[in-house]
Amino acid sequence: MNKLIEKALNEQISMEAQAHYLYLSIASFYEVQGMEGVATFFYDQSAEEQMHMMKIFRYINEMDGHAIVPAVPKPNAEFEDILSTFKLVYEHEKRVTLSINNIVELSTKEKDHGTYNFLQWYVQEQREEESLMRTIIDKIKLIGIGPQSMYFIDREIKEINALKNQTPQ
Ligand SMILES: [Fe+2]
Ligand SMILES: [Fe+2]
Repeated sequence: MNKLIEKALNEQISMEAQAHYLYLSIASFYEVQGMEGVATFFYDQSAEEQMHMMKIFRYINEMDGHAIVPAVPKPNAEFEDILSTFKLVYEHEKRVTLSINNIVELSTKEKDHGTYNFLQWYVQEQREEESLMRTIIDKIKLIGIGPQSMYFIDREIKEINALKNQTPQ
């Protein structure tokens, strides 16, 4: 496997692992506050990020590279209001998209068509995740973030969870 690609993919493993941990921490923070819908949403997101990580992990070794288990820094355990939390997640997803796009570019430059093809799934996934986060942020803005709104926000997220479980991944 091309060494530059291998290094970039190993860095991507680290990014997916960080997202996996961050979303797990957010899930826990909202679970202890009784926001079941938000907690479930982030437990699911966290599991998806681990799956993203593993797909790259297995791909590297399949291509005769060496996948490296990354060190993951401890994420924050406390978060600000719900709008800030989703904005934080949206920013994180945008950084992931940028990183994926850079590896797509690198794979073109290095004429690694296999990796280019492999990454198309991630390109699509990032488009969907960014769009989902924008939808949720817009909803939260409509509802507002006062103390009485938490119930309604949680209910909206529960509906999104139900929809997500209907569509095959
Ligand atoms: Fe991801
Ligand atoms: Fe993601």
